[in-house]
Amino acid sequence: MHLTRLRVRDLRCVIDAEIEPHARLNVITGLNGAGKSSLLEAIHLIAYGRSFRGRVRDGLIGSGSSAVEVFVEWAERNRLRRAGLRHTGARWEARLDGEPVDLLGTLSAAVAVLTFEPGSHALIDGSSEVRRRYLDWGLFHVEPSFLSHWRRYARGLKQRNALLKQGAANQLPAWEMEMAEAGERITEARRRYVGELSLGLSAMASALSPDLGPLALEFASGWKEQDLALADALLLARDRDFAAGFTTVGPHRANWRLHSSLWPAGEAPSRGQAKLCALACLLAQGEHFRKTRGEAPIFLLDDFAAELDRRHQQRLLEVLRGEVWQVFMTGTESPQGLEDADFAGFHVERGHVRTA
Ligand SMILES: Nc1ncnc2c1ncn2[C@@H]1O[C@H](COP(=O)(O)OP(=O)(O)OP(=O)(O)O)[C@@H](O)[C@H]1O
Ligand SMILES: [Mg+2]
Repeated sequence: MHLTRLRVRDLRCVIDAEIEPHARLNVITGLNGAGKSSLLEAIHLIAYGRSFRGRVRDGLIGSGSSAVEVFVEWAERNRLRRAGLRHTGARWEARLDGEPVDLLGTLSAAVAVLTFEPGSHALIDGSSEVRRRYLDWGLFHVEPSFLSHWRRYARGLKQRNALLKQGAANQLPAWEMEMAEAGERITEARRRYVGELSLGLSAMASALSPDLGPLALEFASGWKEQDLALADALLLARDRDFAAGFTTVGPHRANWRLHSSLWPAGEAPSRGQAKLCALACLLAQGEHFRKTRGEAPIFLLDDFAAELDRRHQQRLLEVLRGEVWQVFMTGTESPQGLEDADFAGFHVERGHVRTA
């Protein structure tokens, strides 16, 4: 899928901007604080219902306005689709192909956007929550039943945690059964997905940097899955969970780790290495999406050059140019090596966008 039109109103310093993006590569340049990342936030907002820099109510709405508005048109299998979102921070209204939408998840399912922003190295060196979200984004898009299992598990977990706080043991078994059934399905799907992602990951990593060597993903389900069924793990954890006041085992504690021969166990990657690895993970996920769904997600790359030496910037650019995806990338300067490329350049100055 690729955006054919983007209109943004009252998002940070962008008061009113409209662009007709290129189907492949879009390079957004401008000085610090001009509003480049804000344009990417607009696309992210449509796809996720929030910004990658916090909640809508935390400063996303331009001063002097009561709501941010984003409108996009995109081409999908030769069909033109459109979506709009108006968000006040407390309330929102959305439309998809002219019809009102009552769940933000409906927009998320329709507009698939992968975002790499300066905080995305957290995929490698941040909390397990970031890594679970990465897996679940992919499964939400490629595995139609995943969301219902996840909702069922989340409801069971909420109830079990409430009972643990109240010290009420008698109702635990019913909710644990719900959690166990849904949780095993979630874990099965996550494990399979990690395996499928691993297949494309090393090739993507070596295209970005041969130094990274083969990469391997190791999945951890959130309980001692090799020894126990989830139902038994929950039962065994009861005493500890009553003491803790929350559920200490289960898919909500799942994690994965990336192994590279570049940094032995116990050592950490450099910032640039973490960025390259996180990029490889995200691009492998996009490629998996494309193969499964038959269309590519939109890729947002904020601050393209940050942390990367010139050689790695060039490699990344080559990888992006070789993909069939639509890419929006930002930087204070246009990257070198685009002289013969077919792309669109946009220049942002104090929230005003013009074709470069
Ligand atoms: N997290 C934030 N909360 C509130 N305002 C922000 C936040 N981030 C940026 N802004 C404001 O939004 C405006 C546009 O900033 P934006 O980050 O989009 O610029 P940019 O062109 O991406 O700059 P840079 O080159 O520094 O990344 C600026 O006025 C900035 O002060
Ligand atoms: Mg920026």
